[in-house]
Amino acid sequence: MEPTIDLSFSTTSPLSSSTGWWNKDTVAVVTGANKGIGFALVKRFAEVGLTVVLTARDRERGERAVESLKEKGLHGVRFFPLDVSQPDSIKTFVSWFETQFGVLDILVNNAAVSFNDINQNSVEHAETVIKTNFFGSKILTESLLPFFRLSPSISRILNISSRLGSINKMRNPNIKSILQSKKLSVEQIEWVVNCFLEDVRGGTWESRGWPQVWTDYAVSKLALNAYARVLAGRYEGRGLSVNCFCPGFTQTAMTGGRGTHTADDAAQVGVRLALLPPEELPTGKFYIGEQSSKHYNQAISRVLEGFTVDLISLFNNTSLQFSACKMAGYNSLAPKTKNLIIAGGLSAFVFGVYFYTMKAVGGTDELQVAIDKFEEQKKQEAQANMAPKA
Ligand SMILES: NC(=O)c1ccc[n+]([C@@H]2O[C@H](COP(=O)([O-])OP(=O)(O)OC[C@H]3O[C@@H](n4cnc5c(N)ncnc54)[C@H](OP(=O)(O)O)[C@@H]3O)[C@@H](O)[C@H]2O)c1
Repeated sequence: MEPTIDLSFSTTSPLSSSTGWWNKDTVAVVTGANKGIGFALVKRFAEVGLTVVLTARDRERGERAVESLKEKGLHGVRFFPLDVSQPDSIKTFVSWFETQFGVLDILVNNAAVSFNDINQNSVEHAETVIKTNFFGSKILTESLLPFFRLSPSISRILNISSRLGSINKMRNPNIKSILQSKKLSVEQIEWVVNCFLEDVRGGTWESRGWPQVWTDYAVSKLALNAYARVLAGRYEGRGLSVNCFCPGFTQTAMTGGRGTHTADDAAQVGVRLALLPPEELPTGKFYIGEQSSKHYNQAISRVLEGFTVDLISLFNNTSLQFSACKMAGYNSLAPKTKNLIIAGGLSAFVFGVYFYTMKAVGGTDELQVAIDKFEEQKKQEAQANMAPKA
């Protein structure tokens, strides 16, 4: 059975190295950590007693971030410059890491860029977005693979991803089926990403079924999720777990300060996930953190396995309903009434699957509302363009 994890931002249960599997020799690397969610993740890892490597592409910003943590009494944080979009910078970082640490327990691929405001969808910077968000994380991951400790505590990679990169945003059926294939390879993922960049260069990207919102960013995260899935499969049972986490609509520079919760809230959840006890740690999963509604609190522990919603909790709820029927004297009812109840139950079940799937994949926050509005507006524009002109 799947582990049930409370991913609501209100979770306050303490994390402590005295009860956990980690200690001060446990090493975590976080990319893009001079601000936003990355910085909050480093702070949280340091608070719970790990040794953390804070990396940032700008030396001054990175060093300032480490200083601000020291002022808070958090001394277990080291800094090294790392621009994930530059293979040479990755090389320099990895050789420094090898001499300074030699072993790695947790890698958080957090660094990312988007050049659009919420209602915009320019692909002017698509090359940079793909190079940073997908290739950057992938090349860094590959370069650090030899250093993972692979101990019984299980090493971990957590990609900070986005539900904008969910497979349901992809409308091109051929690409969708390639990405959903059980035999998906890294080469195929790169091929997909390069197809997108070709479409951008050729000016055909809008008609080719790529995600409609924050298209370049969505493709980069889609590729990152797919890569995590392939890597998780490769390392299954070999001491390395690979998962993705969407922090939800978070107040950072990327969203112009808008969002339903702070970077610290998102980091609380991200760090809980990264520090799950080895026996509860899944691999190849996509978690969505969310400002929780009552329903979402239950749905939140549900995960997307690869690209399929895992409905374990829903099945649990259904079995509860069946027990309730039993208690209400179901067995003594007439067969016709029983059939009616079964038909009603089945419809509710189908609706429930749809409802929970949409919720788990799509979410309900402000960003989603903005996305829906934007998509609706685009639809109307397309219809207006098709309407015969007077
Ligand atoms: N905020 C949200 O609502 C939201 C939602 C879903 C997913 N996410 C994801 O959460 C993660 C963190 O984003 P955020 O919201 O915290 O955004 P943010 O405040 O803009 O932080 C992004 C970080 O990435 C760094 N970065 C950018 N390009 C880099 C590069 N080439 N090499 C190294 N670092 C680089 C930035 O450094 P500089 O300061 O030098 O630019 C910054 O430290 C991202 O993966 C993002 O996609 C965010």
